[in-house]
Amino acid sequence: MVKKGKSTVLIGLQYGDEGKARVMDTMLKYYDVVARFNGGANAGHTLEVGNIKIALHQIPSGIFYKDKLLYVGNGCVINPKKFLLEIKEVESYGLKLNKRLLISSLATIIQPHHIYLDGLFGGAIGSTNNGIGPAYSDRAMRAEGRQIKNIRMGDYFSDTKKFKQIVKENLLSTIKKHNLKGIIVETEVNSFHQCMLKIKKFLCSDVLFMEKMVSKGKNVFFEGAQSIMLDVVYGCVPYMTSSRTVAAAAYTGGDLSLKYHDKTIGVAKAIMSRVGNGPFISEFGGLKSENYCMEGSGYTHIEKAELKNSNPLELLKSNDLFNVGKALRMLTGEYGATTKRPRRIGMLDLVMLRQNCSLNGVDELHINKFDCLKFFSQTTLPGIPLVVAYELNGKKIDYMPSSEYESRNVKPIIKYLSFIKEDISKIKTYEKLPDNVKKLISFIEKFVNVKIAGIGVGPEREQFIKINKF
Ligand code: GDP
Ligand code: IMO
Ligand code: MG
Repeated sequence: MVKKGKSTVLIGLQYGDEGKARVMDTMLKYYDVVARFNGGANAGHTLEVGNIKIALHQIPSGIFYKDKLLYVGNGCVINPKKFLLEIKEVESYGLKLNKRLLISSLATIIQPHHIYLDGLFGGAIGSTNNGIGPAYSDRAMRAEGRQIKNIRMGDYFSDTKKFKQIVKENLLSTIKKHNLKGIIVETEVNSFHQCMLKIKKFLCSDVLFMEKMVSKGKNVFFEGAQSIMLDVVYGCVPYMTSSRTVAAAAYTGGDLSLKYHDKTIGVAKAIMSRVGNGPFISEFGGLKSENYCMEGSGYTHIEKAELKNSNPLELLKSNDLFNVGKALRMLTGEYGATTKRPRRIGMLDLVMLRQNCSLNGVDELHINKFDCLKFFSQTTLPGIPLVVAYELNGKKIDYMPSSEYESRNVKPIIKYLSFIKEDISKIKTYEKLPDNVKKLISFIEKFVNVKIAGIGVGPEREQFIKINKF
């Protein structure tokens, strides 16, 4: 049930890429506005509808519903060049964005120097190289002396000549400070400026726009990007993104008051993944997997290379969990939607899930990739592995440690549930699901204390089973 004049927030509960966009896509028909409130081109949200498979980065996921408004809130950081490319891609499918895509005048612009700085410093944490961290730092920094560092959409268009010059000065001072070579400043700044002029028509100057929509009875769906474990506070320093990814951030980054909040939807996946460095307690193959995936990061054809050189069904039988993780990546297609990097693979961590449901007040839980669980029956493991507690320094704990040191020293305590051997990807209703799937659903619900609203049994729009009505 969706109430009129209310808003729903959807967030990812793990390390990103839980399938947020596809869950959203199943519900958007009940909403009028789809809004982003954090992040930028670092996000990669995949939608598969009919013959179209598209990964959206900055544009909200409501593209297939022609009557929905798409709003990019003040908490987002805008890369004008990538924005234009994305618009072009969406429109190439005959989906028009004119008059329905809006960007908050308070959203921060990613300037050319942000991207160079991310290239210089973001590599150590495996950033997506989109300038996200430097743009959010400049937003908090505001200015260095008289030199303005943070430029918002509305500021730029209020005096384009002045702000174009500021963009240039920021780039020049970065080049000087870091002794960067080979950058043709005029060309770079002009190209940035041309892109800005082309996205000007999407500017929404009215900061009350969203408030006006809901007060007229329209419903808003807030689409989170990144996920809780990448939140700039709840994540693990420095292996995180630079924005707040928690549900509450929708009401600071979405240009809407929290009095309209109706419910929070959380999305997880049954076999977890992570891209970039950082602790991942339930990772198959631990540090070996982390290092292997990071080495593969520069190599965009790793997916093909892995498939060419190894047989995943053989790897599944290995006693080395690194191989099991690799096989699961290959069999379930876990390669970055934005960067094509190999995603690190881990077992479902219920301690993390319970904590993140609780901290964000999740009302409805959706879990994707249930179809992929069948692969565990071909491993030498005794069942489907689930993390149910941690041990830290010989003591059992029921929460996630926050420091890198503790996260890397914690031991997961694993419970195995009966295998799911059947292919469930064509099943349409809860009743038809095998008993072991039903048992797993109810085990998760009891453990995290949230009802599961639906499960994904394949990547396509129709491959989604409703479990509980809300
Ligand atoms: P997002 O960033 O949270 O929107 O997720 P991504 O699009 O980055 O990654 C999710 C990936 O999992 C995509 O390739 C989806 O097509 C795929 N996916 C989502 N749900 C399911 C599912 O239930 N089963 C399978 N096999 N794949 C899924
Ligand atoms: P969606 O919305 C998965 C990761 C990067 C890196 C760290 C910091 O598709 O779930 P950044 O470029 O933000 O400075 O990178 O965060 N990261 C993501 N991982 N999904 C995402 O978005 C991500 N956005 C950022 O890999 O480790
Ligand atoms: Mg993604």
